[in-house]
Amino acid sequence: MEKIDYTEKVRNKINGDNLKYIVLTMGCKLNENDSEKISGMIELMGYSKTEEFENADLIVFNTCCVRENAEERLFGKLGEIKKMKEKKNVIIAIGGCMMQEKSMLDKIKQSYKYVDIVFGTHTLQDFPKDMYTAIVKNEKVKNVIDIDGEIIEGLPIKRSDKYRASVTIMYGCNNFCSYCIVPFVRGRERSRNPEDILNEIKGLALEGYKEITLLGQNVNSYGNDNFKYCELDVKSEINTFAKLLRAVNEIDGIEKIKFISPHPKDFKDDVIEAIRDCDKVSKLIHLPLQAGNSKVLKEMNRKYTKEEYLELVKKMREKIPNVYFSTDIIVGFPGETDEEFKDTLDVVEQVKYEQIFMFIYSIREGTVAAKRADQIPDNIKHERFDKLKALYESQVDKLNEKYIGTIQKIMIEGPSKNNQDMYTGRTDSNKVIVFKLTGNENIGDFVNIKISENHKWFLEGEIV
Ligand code: 5AD
Ligand code: SF4
Repeated sequence: MEKIDYTEKVRNKINGDNLKYIVLTMGCKLNENDSEKISGMIELMGYSKTEEFENADLIVFNTCCVRENAEERLFGKLGEIKKMKEKKNVIIAIGGCMMQEKSMLDKIKQSYKYVDIVFGTHTLQDFPKDMYTAIVKNEKVKNVIDIDGEIIEGLPIKRSDKYRASVTIMYGCNNFCSYCIVPFVRGRERSRNPEDILNEIKGLALEGYKEITLLGQNVNSYGNDNFKYCELDVKSEINTFAKLLRAVNEIDGIEKIKFISPHPKDFKDDVIEAIRDCDKVSKLIHLPLQAGNSKVLKEMNRKYTKEEYLELVKKMREKIPNVYFSTDIIVGFPGETDEEFKDTLDVVEQVKYEQIFMFIYSIREGTVAAKRADQIPDNIKHERFDKLKALYESQVDKLNEKYIGTIQKIMIEGPSKNNQDMYTGRTDSNKVIVFKLTGNENIGDFVNIKISENHKWFLEGEIV
C-alpha cells in the first residue's frame, strides 16, 4: 500500500509537467531486468522515456561492478552530467551493484555531492519513496542496505522488447568464486516461488511474447534454498530447475526458452534430460569455463577440474542432439602461468564454442583473489587475451560450415542495420542470419530459413 502512495504523491507533484527520464543500464541481463522494473516504477510516477540525456529530467544509472571498466564509465558520465545539473533541475539517481560496495558509496558521497538518490540492489522497490524524498521533501537519499536480500514480487515493469522477455527466477549467488564480487553485492541465493514465475510467463505469452530468458546468477541451483526466502509457503512440486524448465515448456504461446547463467557444477542429469526433452528449450548451453587449468580452477573455487568440465561437455553431446556451447573465460587470474593458460586454449580447441565472452581479470576489492601478491602484469594479460581471441576467430569459419544447407527455425527480429532490403534473426545457437522477406511475414514471426552462405560473422539464407 505504502509504495502506491509514494508513486501517487510524486505523480501529483510533477502532474502535467511532461517530464522525461532515462535509465542507463551498465551491466548484465539481471541488471537490464532491474532497469525494466525501475522504468516501470518511473512511468507509473508520470515520467515518459527519452533516449537523450539532454532532454531528461530524471537520470538513473543502474551500475555494475563485476569488472573495473564499469566504474570508469560511470565516473566519466557523472562528470558530463554535472554541467547539465548546473543548468537545469535534473534529478540524478544511482543504483545497482556498485552501490552495494562501501568504497563506491563513500566516493559518491564525497566527490559527487550533486547526486540526489543512491539506492542498492536490495532497495529497488523503494524507488518511489526515494523519489518522493528527493523531489517533494528536497532531501538527498541514501537507501542501501547490506542484507542477504529478499524477494519482492509484483513490481511494475516496462519491458524493452515486444517479443523477447527476461524473467528472473532466482536472485543472488552462494558460490564465492574467488575473483567475483557478485555474492557480496547480490546476497544469498533466493529462488522465486515457481507459481509466481509461471504466472508471469503465462501473462507474457498472453501479451504476445514468444521468447523467454530465465535469469539468475546460478539458474541450475534453483530450488536449492528450499524456497526459504519466499513470502508464502511454496506448495508447488516444481522445486528444481529441471522441473521448472519442463513446466515453462508447457506454456502455450512461448516458442523459445533460454536461460543464463548455469554453473557447470550444478548440471545434474535431470537438467540435461529436461533440455533434451523440451522442444522449446534452446540447445545453446552457456557453460562458463573461466579457466582451463585444474589448479587455476581450484584457486578460483569453481569446484570442477578441466577433466570434469570436458566430461560434462561430452556427456551433453551424447545426450542432447544438436547441442552447442558458449562460455565465459577470464585470462590472467593471479598466479596463472603461460603453461596453465595453454590449458584454457586446449579446452577451447576441444569444445569449439559458438561464442566466447572473454574477460581480462580485474581486481575486485574484498574478494579472495584480490589479496594475492602474484597478480599478472597487464601486458601479459593482454597478450593472452589476444591469443584466445585469435584462436576463437580461427575456429569461426569452420564452425559455420555445418550450417550450410540446413534449415533453421528463427524469429524475425527486424530489418538489418547494414542492408535495407534484408531482415535478421538468430539461430538457436545465436548466429545472426540475414534473409529477404517474401512479403507474407511480420516481425516476431517464426520462419524456416535455408542457409546458403557463410559470411563469418553472419550467415545468409532464404525463407522456405
Ligand atoms: N575479472 C574479470 N572477469 C570477471 N568476471 C567475473 N568477475 C570477474 C573479474 N574480477 C566474469 C566471469 C563471469 C562474467 C559474468 O564476468 O567470466 O562469468
Ligand atoms: Fe560470480 Fe561465480 Fe557466482 Fe557467477 S557463480 S556470480 S562467477 S561467484
